[in-house]
Amino acid sequence: MHRRNFIQQSGSLLAGTVLAGNAIANDSFLPVAKKRVAMVGTGVRGLGMWGKPVLEEFGEVVEFVGLCDINPGRVQTGKKFLGVNCNTYTDFDKMMQETKPDALIVTTVDGTHHQFIIKGLQYGAEIITEKPLTIDEQKCQSILDAEEKAGKKIKVTFNYRYSPHRQKLYELLRSGTIGELTSVDFHWYLDIHHGADYFRRWHRLRKNSGSLLVHKATHHFDLLNWWVGSEPEEVFAFGKLDVYGKNSSFRSDKCRGCSYKDSCKFFWDITNDQQLVQLYVDNEKYDGYLRDGCVFREDIDIFDQMAVQIKYASKVQVSYSLTAFSPYEGYRIAFNGTKGRLEAWIKENQPWQESAYDEIQLTHSFGQREIIQVANNEGGHGGGDARLRKQIFKPDGQDPYRQAAGSRDGAMACLIGIAARNSIDSGKPVMIGDLTTLKPKAERPYGL
Ligand SMILES: NC(=O)c1ccc[n+]([C@@H]2O[C@H](COP(=O)([O-])OP(=O)(O)OC[C@H]3O[C@@H](n4cnc5c(N)ncnc54)[C@H](O)[C@@H]3O)[C@@H](O)[C@H]2O)c1
Repeated sequence: MHRRNFIQQSGSLLAGTVLAGNAIANDSFLPVAKKRVAMVGTGVRGLGMWGKPVLEEFGEVVEFVGLCDINPGRVQTGKKFLGVNCNTYTDFDKMMQETKPDALIVTTVDGTHHQFIIKGLQYGAEIITEKPLTIDEQKCQSILDAEEKAGKKIKVTFNYRYSPHRQKLYELLRSGTIGELTSVDFHWYLDIHHGADYFRRWHRLRKNSGSLLVHKATHHFDLLNWWVGSEPEEVFAFGKLDVYGKNSSFRSDKCRGCSYKDSCKFFWDITNDQQLVQLYVDNEKYDGYLRDGCVFREDIDIFDQMAVQIKYASKVQVSYSLTAFSPYEGYRIAFNGTKGRLEAWIKENQPWQESAYDEIQLTHSFGQREIIQVANNEGGHGGGDARLRKQIFKPDGQDPYRQAAGSRDGAMACLIGIAARNSIDSGKPVMIGDLTTLKPKAERPYGL
């Protein structure tokens, strides 16, 4: 029977059911039930990474059954943007009870992830959560306990692992080309546009983001855990606020209407971006959230300059730093091994230096230097975002770079940032094993 005839003849059977009329399994004419997905947090990440692209790439196997956001206007805007016809909610429990989704995508502000992960597990959903897993050790423990009790797995979406350049570094490290890894130098620079944006938004408060040591550096700490292949044991850190917050002699509440707009180097006009206006400005009346908040607000309680030392259970040592007001954006990384050194200087968001490939320099001790070029011409973090979505929604059982990440990976990454923040506050080193019931292992256990 031709596929179109099958659908026509089975029309009444399919009408009003959750079966995917256009998804036919293995040409056997069996309709496949779509994965019923709900999302909480319909901001830019939810819609732009997990909404629209998932519908476009996996619409034959995935359907949205509910969208929830604390802001009633934003959830409506999100529904329109996605072009879906599911119900929208501001009450999370109501959404879960009415829609009973197979999977829940958590894309709210970091400080609330734990609430939805824990409740989502209790409602029996598979959890797909954005990084960071959470922002403090107590919330982390509650998540780990809830996962164990529910017997369902949490997936943490570490998209940074999926870029071709970082995969290549993983591969070179595993191949033993620099001998035994002994230490890593890792320095990340956020520029005066991207870095400043965190000080405009909800991230500026620890209670929302856990500071950039958790919100942003969780990506970098996860990469380190994955590359090093071990788990962190001890952390010591310094942090300070040198440019944003109280450091200016003038300030406002937001850029729109600011009387310093002509002299402030950080002035940013959100009204130039209609999508941001529709998502945030038009919905300010519901929650008062300012997407273009002043980077000099005095309540800013996170750091813009951070230095962290990490010792792994495998004895590898790491020197890491994060600067949030650099004139340009990118990172430098070097892996020191007993037989050589592997290093890269990756420049991001620098149009004058655009190149179709990233370079890795491999220097053999007492030997030659090689330059390895890795193509970077795919969009969305070097094609990494699309590969991650495929691994989540259409896995083929292959994971050669061991990129799939579960709660243990999510915890180990955010715990380094939490330990660093606690160390800055106390002036003392922090043992990762003292934060939760997870005890660091010399060899990183695999993913999910
Ligand atoms: N992996 C990455 O590269 C990457 C990039 C950007 C953001 N993120 C993550 O995605 C998440 C969302 O970030 P964003 O940039 O989209 O922020 P955003 O501010 O655009 O969106 C967050 C949304 O959550 C909603 N929200 C806040 N508290 C809520 C609550 N209690 N209940 C329901 N909804 C609530 C807000 O109203 C908002 O719509 C964060 O966890 C962030 O760390 C990841």
